[in-house]
Amino acid sequence: MNFFNEKLIIVANRLPFSVKKDLTFVKSPGGLVSGLETFLKKSNINNYTWIGWPGSHFDKKKFEIIKEKSKDINCYPVSVPAKLLDKFYNGFCNKTLWPLFHSFPSYVVYEETYWNSYVTVNQIFFEETVKHVDENSIVWIHDYHLMLLPSLLREKFPNIMLGFFLHIPFPPPEVFMQLPWRREILVGLLGCDLIGFHTYEYTTNFLRSLSRTLGIDHKMGDILYKNRLVKVDTFPMGIDFDLFFNACENENVKSILKTIQYQLKDKRIIFSVDRLDYTKGIYNRLLAFEDLLIRRPDLRGKVVLIMVVVPSREGVEHYQRMKKQLEEKISEINGKFGKIDWVPVLYYYRSLNFEELTAHYLACNAILVTPLKDGMNLIAKEFVASRKDLKGVIILSEFAGSAKELGEALIVNPNSISELSYAIEKAIEMPREEQKERLSIMQERLRRYDIVKWGQDFFNTLKYLIETKEKLNTKFLNEAIIHQIKEKFQRASNRILFLDYDGTLVAIVSKPSLAIPDREIKNLLEQISNLPNTDIVIISGRKKEDLVRWFSGIKVNFISEHGIFIKKYNSDWEPMVNISPDFKEPIRNIMEIYVDRLPQSFIEEKEFSIVFHYRNADPELASLRVAELIDELLILTGNMQANVLLGNKVVEVRPAGIDKGVAANIFLKEKNYDFILAIGDDITDEDLFRALPEEAITIKVGLGKSLAKYSAKSYKDVRKLLKNLVE
Ligand code: UDP
Ligand code: G6P
Repeated sequence: MNFFNEKLIIVANRLPFSVKKDLTFVKSPGGLVSGLETFLKKSNINNYTWIGWPGSHFDKKKFEIIKEKSKDINCYPVSVPAKLLDKFYNGFCNKTLWPLFHSFPSYVVYEETYWNSYVTVNQIFFEETVKHVDENSIVWIHDYHLMLLPSLLREKFPNIMLGFFLHIPFPPPEVFMQLPWRREILVGLLGCDLIGFHTYEYTTNFLRSLSRTLGIDHKMGDILYKNRLVKVDTFPMGIDFDLFFNACENENVKSILKTIQYQLKDKRIIFSVDRLDYTKGIYNRLLAFEDLLIRRPDLRGKVVLIMVVVPSREGVEHYQRMKKQLEEKISEINGKFGKIDWVPVLYYYRSLNFEELTAHYLACNAILVTPLKDGMNLIAKEFVASRKDLKGVIILSEFAGSAKELGEALIVNPNSISELSYAIEKAIEMPREEQKERLSIMQERLRRYDIVKWGQDFFNTLKYLIETKEKLNTKFLNEAIIHQIKEKFQRASNRILFLDYDGTLVAIVSKPSLAIPDREIKNLLEQISNLPNTDIVIISGRKKEDLVRWFSGIKVNFISEHGIFIKKYNSDWEPMVNISPDFKEPIRNIMEIYVDRLPQSFIEEKEFSIVFHYRNADPELASLRVAELIDELLILTGNMQANVLLGNKVVEVRPAGIDKGVAANIFLKEKNYDFILAIGDDITDEDLFRALPEEAITIKVGLGKSLAKYSAKSYKDVRKLLKNLVE
């Protein structure tokens, strides 16, 4: 299988191997390397380059040897000076980002020099990466160590395909926003085309943080940032299901399994294996096991806890302290309960290879995967997959990303020692039938969404995005399109321009009263309106008074309140409705309640319509309140001649049967125009686009689905086009 012809460049803090002092290569720890390496192998992707850190600092001579050796396996080591590395890896990555992103705010160290080292190391990775990238590369950046890299690359290569995947949780905005460098991190990530997370929760946390920190909104995970489309989506990482499922047939695994079974015959085995990390909840497991031995003296001598702790981040104090704390507790339990023929906790401080690991998965009666917080946790998935015999029970924390897919596990809150202790009891006494049932459902799910599917999904989304972008680009106003429009404009003998106001001719601002037209736009409109046989219609949701005040002296026509009033140049206003403005009263009463319930929202009242504005309100509360408001308004207006309209951060109620399209047609009926141009940014402008004849040139400003033929990135592009028409 090959997903693409382009060269894939993976950039992660770690290479798939770490180099020991004697220059031998060993597999790097952690789920990132496990997952990615398996993905590349299983998908037969050979045309890749992996850029990363070799795991330690080496002098120049040794580094050159490592570099040569790495080339054979498509890898390129990045050299980071030792002091800088300490501040970057032990410092900003593992004392700032890791605890913050796992919602351990009290463990977080905020230190300016750590941040500076993070900036520098991202720059060093950038310099190595550019050596390998060309315009046809796909660059895939991984994890929290390199969140500034996407924007650095984007600046240099505006058109490459750039993806990012976060392997750890993304915290809720109230936690993330504690980071003094939150803006820089988000801006760094926005250099990507696609940003992926393990769970929907992390994806929403990211989108919420983006909205609160940078005020950037999204539509179904799509963001328009610096005129580029950025997508944010969820991709839960899977495993090589078959590899684990068939491990029980492997001769070495069988033989290790036999040894464990022989040594621990007649004992029920509880297994625990993790990197040494405070996020993994290892200490609580010991407390729970101790609690079980106290509550159930009959189990003493009959259960063992095999606890494997994989050395990790030994340069960080919290990790050193935790090791000491764990080892003391293990000695205490063994000292208190152990007998000559029974050691309650068998403890290993080392890593297991694949065969040892799967033999332990197969040997145990229950596995404890109870992190306090974990991005995904592959161990949980690997255990489930390896139990082809459909025996064994997984006790899984509700705070592991994998719990979203493994709902049939014994789900626990790892902060409750008694819940854990009772779960262990339940697990080792669970009837075979129940074990089988739970495992088989979970196995089916893991088989379907395996590691290949995970990567495939990511790349398919990335590719789809690029195609969408290309399509969008063909619609975006560029020099050629502007030239064509200008030609048509010049050739035409009767021309009409329907121009929306807010967001189309001027920028959207926080208060509608502040969106006063500037000199430039007034001059432009004046120049166009002075051309022969050229009519301009400002077609807006604004009140009559605003339009007249702003554009007095310019030869333009107006459609106000989305089509309710029309004013032809040199004539009076004419209403298009025959409804009493009193219809607004009950609507105003409801809207007023919502103004009280949504701080920073306000009501704008026009003659025949009433608008609830919420641009400045908290976006999350707003989405809730606005849904409620719309519900109430729909019920109220059910038997009224009025429509409820959801616009750009506004909810508007206006008389039914009137819209911008209906109003525009009144102009079109009066003359035979052979050039019709309509530009707008809002949902109300879609009525206009829909109503115009096929040959009309329609332009939507901004992202989002539209009936318009072309799109403009912002009001600035609109001005550019208008300037061209008069030049
Ligand atoms: N692992 C291993 N040997 C060990 C312990 C773990 O090979 O002794 C592997 C395990 O198979 C899994 C990965 O390390 O693929 C751990 O990934 P996980 O997502 O569970 O945790 P992380 O270390 O990334 O936080
Ligand atoms: C987690 C992180 C990885 C990291 C791994 C091991 O899985 O998401 O990025 O590589 O832990 O941690 P380490 O600090 O040894 O790289």
